[in-house]
Amino acid sequence: MDEMPRRDFLKLVTNALLGVSGLLGLGGLVRYLDFEAEAPPPEVFELGAAADYPPGSSTVLPDVPAVLIHDEAGFRAMSLVCTHLGCTVEPNAAGDGYVCPCHGSRYDAAGAVRRGPASDALPALRAEVTGDSQLRLTLS
Ligand code: FES
Repeated sequence: MDEMPRRDFLKLVTNALLGVSGLLGLGGLVRYLDFEAEAPPPEVFELGAAADYPPGSSTVLPDVPAVLIHDEAGFRAMSLVCTHLGCTVEPNAAGDGYVCPCHGSRYDAAGAVRRGPASDALPALRAEVTGDSQLRLTLS
């Protein structure tokens, strides 16, 4: 049996590898072109009994991240995602607003921008008390 010359063997292996990588790249391109962005479904957070959040309370929910406020008007919630580039803001030292650790944006207690670079207020979230007195937070 004739042996394949080394040069022909290397050429064959190289062409096979190029063919495989081309097919893989083509598959990725097809997937990319066929990609359809879907709006993520709203996320719902069950926060437990509404009675656990007494009037006058302000509760940071780090898993959301959001702050839940119970005042004379009822329950309301606000995202703690900075509107500049998405870092999580933190309550400031005075406890009367929020500060972003990334670029220093500052928000007041209602979420309005007090200092940039952020230009938009912290978004309000939907907080509701269900029929069985449970608190539900919905991101939309
Ligand atoms: Fe908050 Fe930039 S991400 S100030």
